[in-house]
Amino acid sequence: MPKIIIAIDGYSSTGKSTVAKRLAEALGYLYVDTGAMYRAVTLYAIENGFVGDGDGIEDFQRLKLQLPKVAVAFRKDPKSNQFQIHLNDKNVEFKIRTLEVSRQVSKIAAIPEVREKLVEQQQKMGVEKGIVMDGRDIGTVVFPDAELKLFMTASAEKRAQRRYKELLERGDEVSYDEVLKNVQERDYLDSTRETSPLRKADDAIVFDNSDMGLEEQFERILDFSHRIIEKRK
Ligand code: DC
Repeated sequence: MPKIIIAIDGYSSTGKSTVAKRLAEALGYLYVDTGAMYRAVTLYAIENGFVGDGDGIEDFQRLKLQLPKVAVAFRKDPKSNQFQIHLNDKNVEFKIRTLEVSRQVSKIAAIPEVREKLVEQQQKMGVEKGIVMDGRDIGTVVFPDAELKLFMTASAEKRAQRRYKELLERGDEVSYDEVLKNVQERDYLDSTRETSPLRKADDAIVFDNSDMGLEEQFERILDFSHRIIEKRK
């Protein structure tokens, strides 16, 4: 069976990772959450005092100098059997999902040196195809030749509700308004940054899932994937 690359881009909390994970399972593909990689570098920056409330240039310079020492990798967790993100050999899957990391991540993801390092790593993961990767620049920069490109969107309010529910389920103390503000700020920063801003690739299929259930969405995307794979036989 020929293998393809599936690139899923879009705004935060549009359910990209849920759909991407199920798709990868259904096709027997590798799933890569690139947001987790940017979050892991952000966690490193926070833990080492390179970012704070002000976004001083000096902090970023120190982070850039340390980048060769920042190892981000996915390893299979024996309990869940899922690939989880590791930062310098430590599993940080839970730690990277806090609102604190969400608040800082767009700044870190805008640093060209950070993107260069992570994009190179992502491209290596896709050399043999058979991969579903989600992020912001997968169809435009990481895999511009991906056989299937999707661009997911939904209203900021719907996305904030989803994220708010997730954070409450984790036991984090946050308010809906804080989460909505973070979603809106990240939308703005991610789509206006100079290096690889979030934008739809010309050949991407748009999915607005404000009112579409994940099941329906997944079935439609799986159908697209099968049709593309069939054509390549
Ligand atoms: O998918 P996420 O919300 O976990 O991503 C966290 C942040 O990382 C997001 O605000 C933008 C950034 N990001 C990026 O710039 N490029 C990617 N390919 C993936 C994520």
